[in-house]
Amino acid sequence: MSTQNESWGSRVGLVLAMAGNAVGLGNFLRFPVQAIQNGGGSFIIPYLICFLLMGIPLLFVEWSMGRFGGLSGNHSTPFILDTMGKKRIWKYIGVFGIFTNLAVAAYYCYIESWTLAYVWKSLTGVFSGQSSDAVSSMFSDYVSLGTAEPIVFWVICLLLNTWILSRGLSGGVEIAAKVGMPLLIFFGILLAIRGVTLKSGEAGAIFDGTEGLNFLWTPDFSTIWDFKVWLAAAGQIFFTLSVGMGSIQCYASYLSSRDDVALNAMSAGWMNEFVEVVLGAAVIIPISVGYLGIEKVVELTQTGGLGLGFRTLPFLFQQWGPILSVLAGVAWFGLLFFAGITSSLAMGTPVMGFLRDEFGWRRESSAFAFGALVFVLGAPTVMFFNHGVFDEYDYWAGTVSLVLFAMLEIIAFAWIFGIDNGWAEIKRGADMKVPIIFKYLIKYVTPVILIAVFMGSLLSEGGILDKIVNKDIKAQIAAATDPQIIADLSTQLNYVNGSRLLLVLVFVAIAVLVRVAQVKREKFGRIQPNA
Ligand code: TRP
Repeated sequence: MSTQNESWGSRVGLVLAMAGNAVGLGNFLRFPVQAIQNGGGSFIIPYLICFLLMGIPLLFVEWSMGRFGGLSGNHSTPFILDTMGKKRIWKYIGVFGIFTNLAVAAYYCYIESWTLAYVWKSLTGVFSGQSSDAVSSMFSDYVSLGTAEPIVFWVICLLLNTWILSRGLSGGVEIAAKVGMPLLIFFGILLAIRGVTLKSGEAGAIFDGTEGLNFLWTPDFSTIWDFKVWLAAAGQIFFTLSVGMGSIQCYASYLSSRDDVALNAMSAGWMNEFVEVVLGAAVIIPISVGYLGIEKVVELTQTGGLGLGFRTLPFLFQQWGPILSVLAGVAWFGLLFFAGITSSLAMGTPVMGFLRDEFGWRRESSAFAFGALVFVLGAPTVMFFNHGVFDEYDYWAGTVSLVLFAMLEIIAFAWIFGIDNGWAEIKRGADMKVPIIFKYLIKYVTPVILIAVFMGSLLSEGGILDKIVNKDIKAQIAAATDPQIIADLSTQLNYVNGSRLLLVLVFVAIAVLVRVAQVKREKFGRIQPNA
């Protein structure tokens, strides 16, 4: 049996690492933008319902599934699923749990490197005295690679990830979480207090910060039946909790058989929700609404969601005077960096777990392989950021794959492995009483909602099927008359198709490796442990 000599150092470390996995750029950049784009108050209700009916059940499922697979020495979803269902198809469904991590890391680490660069920029005071347009175009210049700076920060960031991963779970990942999470929460609380107490008339603000909070927290039932809002809410819950990705299963596979999963899963999951709906909502929204007003903020989120955090906030901070603005910049981008790195580390572990289990690689070599793969797959998103390659990765790997994989794995858990076995796994070693209702949610409710969400995203206007045939871009080409615009759109079409082809190839390559691993297992048995 290949039991990697790897385990968590302490329970606190484990929960912080799991919380660090979940708490990421999604909490501070994606959540506020999704909430605003989908009408503020009308987003929150579907969001909370999705958390209760899909998020929590999936956390129980993924944690217990990971621990179960780990007991027989499997640390990545192809072979974790293999231990639960006899049919070989499950191994290949498990490919998603490696693919998603690799493909998301490919663009995620790039944003993570922006946050590092922006800590540096804040410290060196480059935003001071600049106009709002100047600050905003600094970001455009940055991503259009006018200088080598973005590449340098990106490589530093990848090296940092590789180095921490090569030190293992207790010696690397856990330490990063123990340092990063408290700091992140501390910075988040400081900025949130500032956001909430911002008064109109003070330091150039034109509205109270609470104006933004009201927009978010005033229940609004007007779009409650709009399918798009539900899709967005479900998508955000998956992304932020890191479910449907294979990274929770991998972390949990390093638990031992009597370790609690129920209470730990709840602690990490609720910690993520606190950071998201309390802190994530109380920084970017109140501050930008305070200075710009709701309409302007809504408008800014329509044209590229990442803009607010990098284009707008550094300018707004400048209104607070020379010292506070530097502190605020370091706190904001620093917290984003810690949020990002504790998540990208979680994306590395399933890839490493697979290489170590199946091919006997050493920890250092597999960490390095992850860094190198992210570099290669990430290069197109860095080079062709302005051509929509980034968005293509985010859509297929960061959105569609999660829902699809979550749907399949919960079916595997509740119907193939069997809900009685599954329920026993969840309860084994549990330090809390898991309400029996979750048994029924996991068996019936969550799978049904997931199937509905998936079918909806497949068939709805602008959904998966429309995307596959490039309906939108083709319609734009058909409608355009200017030959230059037509040429630009056609180039964009090539980039879009090119990125998809690349992603498909990555998926197929992982599936082939799974096949090779299977053949090896049949011929030679399992690999022996290797440090
Ligand atoms: N949950 C993280 C966030 O909110 C993102 C994340 C963590 C992730 N682990 C992952 C995404 C694994 C894909 C795969 O930012």
